[in-house]
Amino acid sequence: MKFFIDSANIDHIKEAASYGLLDGVTTNPSLVSKEGKNFRQLLDEIVKIVDGPISAEVVSTDYNGILKEAYELAKIHDNIVVKVPLIKEGIKAVKTLADEDIKTNVTLCFSPSQALLAAKAGASYISPFVGRLDDISHNGMELAKQIIQIYRNYNFKTQVLVASIRHPLHLVEAAMMGADVATMPFDVIEKLFKHPLTDIGLEKFLSDWHKSNQK
Ligand code: G3P
Repeated sequence: MKFFIDSANIDHIKEAASYGLLDGVTTNPSLVSKEGKNFRQLLDEIVKIVDGPISAEVVSTDYNGILKEAYELAKIHDNIVVKVPLIKEGIKAVKTLADEDIKTNVTLCFSPSQALLAAKAGASYISPFVGRLDDISHNGMELAKQIIQIYRNYNFKTQVLVASIRHPLHLVEAAMMGADVATMPFDVIEKLFKHPLTDIGLEKFLSDWHKSNQK
């Protein structure tokens, strides 16, 4: 299973990359806007930190505009994956980009039928937003499960990238169902390490060790 960080914060990306387990990065317009930096400069920095797929999202909503942005983004680095919203014009653009071997991540997916469209268009990744579905009392992980089943049925190559992850249990469920990728905010990555019994156990081991006057 691949771990991506869902962030445009350089310090967080650097810290997560330092653990040696980070496979890629996803960004979105809201995350980029939070940083108050130029998008292009941010991407130039991120590609130097993480040698893996870096999703960069278009903001056009028409076919020609999406393609124009996609070509510019794809030129930045081989690792750039063009993130495209799951709308009609977006799916049309994804098909064109797939035919030209440009990698895409179809975002804002909230239903299995939408995911089927993305796979048929040749998307490299589909991003079901599990947390945002949970927020409105729908089962987000059930969507991820349906997509994985559908893609398996037809051997689609599109990778399932579970997005809008809010807590470690989302990651565990995604792993149990065999999702290809999980993209997580920095705070969720940090939480993965934590267990109170680890802290208590380590404290006890170290205090026992010091008591025994070992050299
Ligand atoms: O980057 C896409 C997705 O992960 C957004 O998550 O927490 O804003 O729903 P969230």
